[in-house]
Amino acid sequence: MTILVTGAAGFIGSELCMRLLERGEVLVGLDNHNDYYDPALKEARLARHLAHPNYTHVRLDLADRTGMEELFAKYKPKRVVNLAAQAGVRHSIDNPLAYIDSNVLGFAHLLEGCRNQGVEHLVYASSSSVYGANKTMPFSVHHNVDRPLSMYAASKKSNELMAHAYSHLYGLPTTALRFFTVYGPL
Ligand SMILES: NC(=O)c1ccc[n+]([C@@H]2O[C@H](COP(=O)([O-])OP(=O)(O)OC[C@H]3O[C@@H](n4cnc5c(N)ncnc54)[C@H](O)[C@@H]3O)[C@@H](O)[C@H]2O)c1
Repeated sequence: MTILVTGAAGFIGSELCMRLLERGEVLVGLDNHNDYYDPALKEARLARHLAHPNYTHVRLDLADRTGMEELFAKYKPKRVVNLAAQAGVRHSIDNPLAYIDSNVLGFAHLLEGCRNQGVEHLVYASSSSVYGANKTMPFSVHHNVDRPLSMYAASKKSNELMAHAYSHLYGLPTTALRFFTVYGPL
């Protein structure tokens, strides 16, 4: 069974790939290696996975509809972890469309791939930023998150709405992870 990990050269994605490879999983990692921060860091992370026989890397943008269709048709992943995204609240103030391309359009392509391939489970990164103008502490998944304060937050909230619709319409099991500040080496 193949697992697709997007954002595989990213901070969280690379660490996830290493953990999954160590427990014997077969992975396809996807990343567009953008230059939002130094791409050399992404290459260094990737070198760790490439050394593993169960790992295949694909350089592709989530926003590439044809490329995404071909990826799903070729590798037929049964489980998908979506960590690829344009991240960062501040960057979204000057570059809102980057968040539409990667996080909204790209996520739609991913959902379509999951639907067409009968994926068993999609796990994807949302963000604590969805709590936006919510002032009730501590945050809870039961709180209303209808007031995003950035396009980054709006794109992540959109992912939760889109995934819910696919779960409802097509029976695709989905789980959103609202990461707060993830930290660690690399
Ligand atoms: N790190 C955190 O504290 C944090 C907090 C909240 C949410 N998140 C979310 O978790 C996920 C992973 O975060 P990270 O810290 O590892 O970020 P990261 O930027 O290190 O990794 C994201 C990876 O996705 C790739 N990518 C971006 N857009 C892409 C696209 N359109 N197509 C293909 N690849 C693309 C990038 O090249 C990068 O390698 C993201 O969705 C992010 O929004 C992270």
